[in-house]
Amino acid sequence: MKLLAFAASLRTASLNRKLIHQASVMLRSTPQVDLDLADFREFEMPMYDGDLEARDGIPPGGLEFIRRIQISDGLVIATPEYNGGMPGTLKNAIDWASRTDPIPFEDKPVLLIGASPGGLGAVRSLAHCRIPLQTIGAHVYPEVFGLPRAHQAFDVSGAFLEAHQGSRLQTLLLAYISFVAKLTARSS
Ligand SMILES: Cc1cc2nc3c(=O)[nH]c(=O)nc-3n(C[C@H](O)[C@H](O)[C@H](O)COP(=O)(O)O)c2cc1C
Repeated sequence: MKLLAFAASLRTASLNRKLIHQASVMLRSTPQVDLDLADFREFEMPMYDGDLEARDGIPPGGLEFIRRIQISDGLVIATPEYNGGMPGTLKNAIDWASRTDPIPFEDKPVLLIGASPGGLGAVRSLAHCRIPLQTIGAHVYPEVFGLPRAHQAFDVSGAFLEAHQGSRLQTLLLAYISFVAKLTARSS
């Protein structure tokens, strides 16, 4: 199965980049997964503007986002939490992607994970992400992974300092992979 994974942060030192990197190491060691690890910068796009869309169509970053979703069987998104919700940049990307028919998220299984220096580990952002994604037909996996105090969670090589965080993430990724496999088998 082909999975698209990215961190919804543009920051070079992003904690969510570190988290998706750890997830990518685990996913790449799973034989049935062909991983497309994207940089969110590949999908940079302007704020959604209906006039811009009417004049020029979907911007290149949006088209690339759509293309990469279309060729994937599922997505793993690591997202920060901003002011108790999802980042505007991620919502904007989802909004642009929803302007094509069929909507590329339709029937795609999505796993939401997130990291934050706070005590809640971005879980409010993960809850908010679920709403637009489900609205446009994605199958958002019921469980999420939130990493609290993420600024203290990684060593210099980017590995988890606490082994239980790695095993928690690994368990969730394996459960998600079997969810994707079941959905893919059902639709083929
Ligand atoms: C505009 C803004 C709002 C934020 N709001 C929250 C918040 O509500 N909850 C939280 O845990 N962290 C919040 N933070 C802190 C982020 O979790 C922190 O900057 C984190 O490192 C961002 O993710 P990244 O490292 O992947 O870029 C906020 C940061 C910014 C810039």
